Amino acid sequence: MQIIILRSEKEAAARVADLVAEQVKKKKTSVLGLATGKTMIPIYREIARRKINFSRVKTFNLDEYAGGDSLRKFMERNFFGKVNLKEKNIFFLDGKARDWKSECSLFEGEIRRAGGIDLQILGVGRNGHIGFNEPGSSLKSRTRRVRLSLSTRHDNGTRFGYALTMGVGTIMSARRIVLAALGGRKAEIVGKVIDGRTGSGVPASFLRRHRRFLLVLDGAAAGE
Ligand code: GLP
Repeated sequence: MQIIILRSEKEAAARVADLVAEQVKKKKTSVLGLATGKTMIPIYREIARRKINFSRVKTFNLDEYAGGDSLRKFMERNFFGKVNLKEKNIFFLDGKARDWKSECSLFEGEIRRAGGIDLQILGVGRNGHIGFNEPGSSLKSRTRRVRLSLSTRHDNGTRFGYALTMGVGTIMSARRIVLAALGGRKAEIVGKVIDGRTGSGVPASFLRRHRRFLLVLDGAAAGE
């Protein structure tokens, strides 16, 4: 695990955007794993400002509410509508799919067919969830339907009780993982991710076992 602490939210977001820019410059056909959430808003703004050429890039989003499409809409608004990604290269779990089991296995198959994820960007929930892998999720979990905890539903202000999400194992299969945590409300969970017990009690703690895991924090999230 590598940790980078920057003074402000803006600098931290810019650093994550730089990592994405470097990745796509190095490999024009990069496969990116993307996240939603407030943390991602300044990051997507910075990425869009850099005028990166995404014309051959593929993206896979972590999750979507079961029965909804609001995370897809979040991405349209904050990212897809601002860069030159091709529609056919945007992969998203269909929260409205009736047969969620086959939807989840199709999604895993698409990731495999794309050659796996080169760079996965993540945020973290205050209870340590990544994607929607709530506490209790196993290291081996793959894309599936999960029940959301009350604290997550409250933090995200959602009426949905379930979601489809990449599993911890799916996330861990990415070749490189960057988790961004911004603001003082993330300081407590960041402490646990860095030196708490590794285990499904805090799913983000599993990331420490990844060979190329980078944590990008602003001062407040680092507890300064
Ligand atoms: C949601 C998403 C996560 C995200 C987390 C943190 O639950 N499924 O991928 O990391 O919220 O969100 P925020 O950045 O708004 O704190």
